Amino acid sequence: MSADLFVRNLEDFENPRLVPLGDGFHLSAFFLMKLLPARYMLDQAVARGELSPGGLICESSSGTFALSLAMLAARQGFRLLIVGDWALDTDLRRRLRQLGTDIDIVDEPHPTGGFQLARLERLQHHLQRNPGSYWPSQYSNPDNPASYAKVAAHLIDRLGRIDCLVGPVGSGGSMSGTARYLRYLFPNLTVIGVDTFHSALFGQPNALRQISGLGGGIVPDNVDHTQFDEVHWLSAAEIFKAMHELHSRHGLFMGPTSGASYRVAQWWSMTHPGKSVVAFGPDEGHRYVNTSYDDDWLARTIEGWDQPASLAPVEIASPTETLTGWSRFPWARRRLADVPPPPPPRA
Ligand SMILES: Cc1ncc(COP(=O)(O)O)c(C=O)c1O
Repeated sequence: MSADLFVRNLEDFENPRLVPLGDGFHLSAFFLMKLLPARYMLDQAVARGELSPGGLICESSSGTFALSLAMLAARQGFRLLIVGDWALDTDLRRRLRQLGTDIDIVDEPHPTGGFQLARLERLQHHLQRNPGSYWPSQYSNPDNPASYAKVAAHLIDRLGRIDCLVGPVGSGGSMSGTARYLRYLFPNLTVIGVDTFHSALFGQPNALRQISGLGGGIVPDNVDHTQFDEVHWLSAAEIFKAMHELHSRHGLFMGPTSGASYRVAQWWSMTHPGKSVVAFGPDEGHRYVNTSYDDDWLARTIEGWDQPASLAPVEIASPTETLTGWSRFPWARRRLADVPPPPPPRA
């Protein structure tokens, strides 16, 4: 069997399954969403001569991008070094090592940029020590959002008109890229980004977060703020409850970021009858069996787990507010710098 055929086999996992969850409401359920941008970035790097056969790939990731690169590197004969942090759980570390990946874990956050910046600083060290190594740089590489043209085409092909796209934002590649392509056909598409408390992406003061793959301590170039009509923030407890509901009500065993986008899209669907909405579900639940799918872990670790979940968001006046529950801000396709500062405190 030729090497080409193996690569095409992994490409078979790139398109999401579209699962109807309500009237006009579909979950775009990926096996592993990051397989698509990872494959596209490597293909483009090879085409540009930035990555040679058997070359070393270095990347900072604590989750699905690392796993996707590791699967592709194993198939295509590249070496891979991943800089990760606490979020890279022991099961995933084992799996990466079995795929032949070297792992370097950062233990301390950067004083202002959190773990994300600490990982990027360590990565620079590895790139300098390994001349000729390739850094896909999912946070700033334009090939990351560009790869989602394929997803946009698939959604249009399968669903026809789409009124609203909802999804979690991490590097920004999936939502910014898909929105950009869908708007060629649907300029009035409503795009809703889902983030979590204490994430700097849409202006929250940065602090430690409990959700991997969602939000971040620094704002990536690939977050195109001008694509977003609305931004919603959910607490860790709200996200995990939504993930459990997706499983118990619909039989879909997905990860926390899928729960986050499900919760927001379900609300949008109920408040916009007759409209069509797609929610991104970036990965499956297996990686979270010992954490957010474990009731004891949830009760021990997650603040507010024993409290009822909010049924609708509260509209906030500024993204910098201290949030106590599911919150929503009418972003209106603005740049981050154009979002107004918080209102002065009342006298
Ligand atoms: C599980 C999961 N969901 C969502 C995202 C966010 O996707 P994007 O980086 O395209 O914004 C990520 C990013 O790593 C992820 O790992």
